[in-house]
Amino acid sequence: MLKTHTCGELCAEHEGQEVTLAGWVNLRRDHGGLIFIVLRDRAGLTQVVTSPETVPEAHAVAAQVRGEYVIQVRGTVRRRPANQVNPDWPTGEVEVEAQEIKILNTSRTPPFYIYEESPVDEVLRLRYRYLDLRRARMQRNLILRHRVVKFIRDFMDARGFLEIETPYLFKSTPEGARDYLVPSRVHPGKFYALPQSPQQLKQLLMVAGYERYFQIARCFRDEDLRGDRQPEFTQLDLEMSFVERDDILELTEALYTELVRAVTPEKRILSPFPRLSHTEALERFGSDKPDLRFGMELVDLTETLGESGFRVFRQVRESGGCIKGIVAPGCAGYTRRQLDELTGLAKAQGAKGLVTLAFRSEGVKGPAVKFLTEGELAALAEHTGAGEGDLVCIVADVPAVAAAALSALRLAFRDRLELVDRDLLAFAFVLDFPMFERDEEAQRWNAAHHPFTMPRPFDYESMAADPAAILSEAYDLICNGYELASGSIRIHDPQLQADVFRILGYNEAEAKARFGHILEAFTYGAPPHGGIAPGIDRTVMLLADETNIREVIAFPKTTQATDLMADAPATVDPRQLEELHIRIVDEA
Ligand code: AMO
Ligand code: AMP
Repeated sequence: MLKTHTCGELCAEHEGQEVTLAGWVNLRRDHGGLIFIVLRDRAGLTQVVTSPETVPEAHAVAAQVRGEYVIQVRGTVRRRPANQVNPDWPTGEVEVEAQEIKILNTSRTPPFYIYEESPVDEVLRLRYRYLDLRRARMQRNLILRHRVVKFIRDFMDARGFLEIETPYLFKSTPEGARDYLVPSRVHPGKFYALPQSPQQLKQLLMVAGYERYFQIARCFRDEDLRGDRQPEFTQLDLEMSFVERDDILELTEALYTELVRAVTPEKRILSPFPRLSHTEALERFGSDKPDLRFGMELVDLTETLGESGFRVFRQVRESGGCIKGIVAPGCAGYTRRQLDELTGLAKAQGAKGLVTLAFRSEGVKGPAVKFLTEGELAALAEHTGAGEGDLVCIVADVPAVAAAALSALRLAFRDRLELVDRDLLAFAFVLDFPMFERDEEAQRWNAAHHPFTMPRPFDYESMAADPAAILSEAYDLICNGYELASGSIRIHDPQLQADVFRILGYNEAEAKARFGHILEAFTYGAPPHGGIAPGIDRTVMLLADETNIREVIAFPKTTQATDLMADAPATVDPRQLEELHIRIVDEA
């Protein structure tokens, strides 16, 4: 090694030792006479000092180095004078007096400061990702990610799970997104699909008798990207045979409880994890992944206000919709502009408007007050618990829109009023999802989770007759407003699987062409099985207190699915296209 120690380990105990360090110049300060170099490597920072009197050669080299130069320093460890001890650094008690400094490589001036935590434009960070990754925040996040994955591997191994790799070049495995396709050179006109998840493969491993499988698996999905979505991301994919729902939930709860304790012990969790039905989550919080770190639950006001003199409320009630509200504590003084912002948030979720009622000392204020009787206002206060100083926000609409609008407002108040404890991880399970979702535009049913999910014990006639009424054995793990994991007990009966494909609109030939392998496998003794897939990126994001998964991925893509550093995707050599039997139809 070109070094005897890291930059993170020297302390008073090493006083007097001769050491060799190597790393990057974090900072260089010329104190007229003395030169101080803060040397950085992955382990930390160490101060190096040179003076023209003691070792003029080393001092001359120190005078030449600049930020991000790579240098090797041989020198003696000495205690810093008491007034120069830096208590913020593990190495802050000592410094290395250089005997010799070698420049191993120079560096151009970086486009942003490496040693400062100041915000830098993300485009620049992604363009120079290798420099961004030198910064403390990214290093912390990637080290945390390593520890999370290491913990998971040990946890699964201790419970008898085998890590088995599955192919990337496979066949379409639908999870509700578009596929990334890979053209075949040797089979003209044919394509592999990169798996949206190893779903079918892990089920086939259960048919194959492996009983407990896991994989730190890369998944590929061509979908609209957001802060918590990347086109390629990583799951802890796991599957077990001979289990019921609660076995998977208990395993998942143990995994996350022990993970948090091991890697972020400063965080608190709710224990045991609360369990909510899908219906309950929507009714109480307006979301199937509510942030449970705070209350502000939705109140149903359909009965209270449905017959009021306010036309909008009456009409919505008469057409079968609902009237729901939330109470924002202490917000009765909101200005016109602040109220307009809230209305904008509600409208962005499809609401037609927002009624706000400010409970002021001089009475209830708001544009709809004149339509409400004293009795209705009193009933409203009683049902919502609103008191002086509070702001009640009400949306009347079909249940899905009222839920979405109020859920968005709830999260906005969370952030504005700083309602949450940042060290709390509010994990919970959401259960009893519907099996099917109606796609009105395409006039068909979609699988709410995926087509391999077991419907709740049911009566066959009703499944075909009224798919909307069927619940499934699917479950989600949620945390702080994010969906962290999804899973289900699977279908293992080929007949039932074929029935579900039929409801999803595949005729027999299509089902056979797309999923024949799994239907056939189920005829050879498929055990009852189920599993779950936690997103690793989202898990690390929450543990790292980040709000975007790009911050916990070494080389992420932009929301336009591009890599700014390598400039991917890119055009390719026409010869490659020819070999792949592909002709580009230029739209321009
Ligand atoms: P699902 O599609 O719900 O289930 O995905 C499971 C978890 O993977 C993470 N995730 C993502 N993370 C980052 N970017 C994305 N684009 C993205 N999409 C999903 C989320 C999510 O909860 N095969 C099933 C699992 C099963 O049934 O066992 C599946 O993939 O954290
Ligand atoms: P309008 O009758 O459309 O002029 O709306 C009067 C007030 O009611 C405005 O403050 C609107 O934002 C609000 N409003 C309209 N429709 C709804 C609705 N469906 N739910 C809640 N508030 C609404």
